[in-house]
Amino acid sequence: MKTINPLLLSILISLLSSISWATSAHIHENFLQCLSHQVPNSDSFSEVIYTPHNSSYASVLQSFIRNLRFATPFTPKPLVIVTPLQEAHIQAAIYCAKKHGMNFRVRSGGHDYEGLSYVSYEVPFVIVDLLHFQSITIDVENNTAWVQAGATIGQLYYRIAKKSKTLGFSAGICPTVGVGGHFSGGGYGTMSRKYGIAADNIFDARLIDVNGRILDRKSMGEDLFWAIRGGGGASFGVILAWHIKLVHVPQIVTVFTVNRTLEQNATKLVHRWQYIADKVDDNLSLRIFIRRVNSSTQDGRRTIQASFVSLFLGGVDTLLPLMQESFPELGLVREDCLEMSWIESILYFAGFSGEPLDVLLNKTSSLSDQYFKGKSDYAVEPISEDGLKQIWKEFISPQVERFEFIFSPFGGRLSEISETEIPFPHRSGTIYSIHYGLLWTEKGTNAFNRHMTWIRRFYSFMAPYVTKSPRSAYVNYRDLDLGVNNKGNTSYAQASVWGLKYFGINFERLTRVKTMVDPGNFFKNEQSIPIL
Ligand SMILES: Cc1cc2nc3c(=O)[nH]c(=O)nc-3n(C[C@H](O)[C@H](O)[C@H](O)COP(=O)(O)OP(=O)(O)OC[C@H]3O[C@@H](n4cnc5c(N)ncnc54)[C@H](O)[C@@H]3O)c2cc1C
Ligand SMILES: *[C@@H]1O[C@H](CO)[C@@H](O)[C@H](O)[C@H]1NC(C)=O
Ligand SMILES: *[C@@H]1O[C@H](CO)[C@@H](O)[C@H](O)[C@H]1NC(C)=O
Ligand SMILES: *[C@@H]1O[C@H](CO)[C@@H](O)[C@H](O)[C@H]1NC(C)=O
Ligand SMILES: *[C@@H]1O[C@H](CO)[C@@H](O)[C@H](O)[C@H]1NC(C)=O
Ligand SMILES: *[C@@H]1O[C@H](CO)[C@@H](O)[C@H](O)[C@H]1NC(C)=O
Ligand SMILES: *[C@@H]1O[C@H](CO)[C@@H](O)[C@H](O)[C@H]1NC(C)=O
Ligand SMILES: *[C@@H]1O[C@H](CO)[C@@H](O)[C@H](O)[C@H]1NC(C)=O
Ligand SMILES: *[C@@H]1O[C@H](CO)[C@@H](O)[C@H](O)[C@H]1NC(C)=O
Repeated sequence: MKTINPLLLSILISLLSSISWATSAHIHENFLQCLSHQVPNSDSFSEVIYTPHNSSYASVLQSFIRNLRFATPFTPKPLVIVTPLQEAHIQAAIYCAKKHGMNFRVRSGGHDYEGLSYVSYEVPFVIVDLLHFQSITIDVENNTAWVQAGATIGQLYYRIAKKSKTLGFSAGICPTVGVGGHFSGGGYGTMSRKYGIAADNIFDARLIDVNGRILDRKSMGEDLFWAIRGGGGASFGVILAWHIKLVHVPQIVTVFTVNRTLEQNATKLVHRWQYIADKVDDNLSLRIFIRRVNSSTQDGRRTIQASFVSLFLGGVDTLLPLMQESFPELGLVREDCLEMSWIESILYFAGFSGEPLDVLLNKTSSLSDQYFKGKSDYAVEPISEDGLKQIWKEFISPQVERFEFIFSPFGGRLSEISETEIPFPHRSGTIYSIHYGLLWTEKGTNAFNRHMTWIRRFYSFMAPYVTKSPRSAYVNYRDLDLGVNNKGNTSYAQASVWGLKYFGINFERLTRVKTMVDPGNFFKNEQSIPIL
């Protein structure tokens, strides 16, 4: 098509949208009626069903949107939001959505990098938000816990710490992340070198399948139980709760942050780090945050800062000789180190200082007023010093507001577990993962395009330095640039482009499990596991 008459186009668009609106309104009514029939004796049910007519609809929708990219007037909005109080409410929502052709979204913590827990580009859709499913039961006798999907990892850490000073759990760093999505996609954190990811420490789960059945490990079978531990949320059913194995933490842990700019040998240090990060004592997790800063020693000139942020599961007296032996170049001294309890280290890494522990119970996050785009990579070979210098050059560019990348060490327990044990395939051979995060506050299309273009270019630039064929990625850092499912019809070849990046050789088994448990592809989104 060469030219389009703008008038014709606008007539066409309004015609199309009025048709789809009429259809939507129809589906909408039938859907609501269906819900009320499904749970007839529940007075409370109507009080947790929100449509755009309810004044609290917007606040319920927005309360867990963590990214301004998905809070624009153009972002597709759900026809209905359900915040279930009981399992029967979820069963009803699944049944009625299936019956009336509504697309279905389930949201736990709302951190999805592409907003897929509350945005559907196939309309109309309903969101089931699990905000009332937050209960956590800790069994200190057996070192286990049941945690409902709508709880956050901050709430989980808090509850564990209230019961025991020597128990913890291995999962992510940001306390507002929801366990529903997080454990479904893996769950990497500061104790992963010692204990693996969250999904490595799950031994039972409760899930509602496409037929509304409530299943546990025994009744769902080992294939489905395998798939939900790392295969990504939203493809197989609605997770209600996880049964997890708590891990041992010492009474005293040590944390430190050591900042070094380019002028302080940052390049050499990052380079050297790549040779020890995955090999040191697995009680030590040493991450690097790389940022652009204004140098304090170079008249405020722009430079790059490598910030070495670490958790050691032990006291400072054990840590110092260990660092002296494995990474003396960093020059760590006692004054850099802080001893504290494990739960205090959770606050430290979350960026709190001095707040009471119960800030961990807060589900609101400060991210909600920024635009964000993230991506990921894995490194299996160290990047040369020269390579690092090239990367800094590319990165120091002033065109974007706030860009940061994080190198997170692998090795330890992570490489002892086989690649096929659960769908998370990034195991032996991985030195570290790379997280790219771009944040901006400037509104408008120009800023949007500039930032999105920049991060995509930077990602292409990084290709020679990271895993190849496939260039792997972490499903919890979802990135629709890697490819999306077609409406209703996705071939294996098409989906395997992103599927192999996220899941490696496990992708094929995931599609087989999906075909077995949800042959009608009801649980679908732009990057859900396709049916064969
Ligand atoms: C600020 C921030 C920090 C992060 N830090 C880390 C980190 O340290 N380590 C790490 O590994 N990851 C981290 N992540 C990524 C995070 O693990 C993923 O975004 C994860 O999927 C979020 O889960 P959620 O429940 O909060 O998100 P949601 O957006 O609610 O869900 C994510 C996906 O899972 C699906 N889903 C949600 N709940 C369920 C359910 N009950 N049953 C089935 N499917 C469900 C959703 O539909 C969606 O597709 C971080 C993300 C952010 C934004
Ligand atoms: C939304 O409005 C409907 C109709 O007025 C009402 O029945 C329902 O209880 C309202 N929902 C909430 C959550 O208040
Ligand atoms: C602990 O585990 C044992 C053995 O599995 C079980 O019999 C017991 O009931 C559990 N204890 C609690 C408090 O659940
Ligand atoms: C390291 O630098 C960051 C800014 O990038 C700053 O917030 C932090 O306080 C610094 N930490 C130390 C220990 O110097
Ligand atoms: C940087 O490294 C050189 C030699 O490797 C050393 O002499 C110098 O003290 C280091 N500078 C800093 C700030 O650590
Ligand atoms: C980690 O610390 C524990 C407890 O202090 C110790 O038993 C263990 O040997 C350490 N791990 C390694 C690999 O040294
Ligand atoms: C660095 O300096 C520039 C120009 O003075 C300023 O606009 C910017 O906000 C500063 N950045 C940081 C991180 O302080
Ligand atoms: C929860 O966190 C948000 C964002 O950081 C903050 O604005 C709010 O005050 C916090 N609420 C409580 C009760 O701590
Ligand atoms: C799905 O895609 C395949 C291959 O592109 C095509 O042959 C088939 O007709 C499509 N099916 C539907 C229902 O669109």
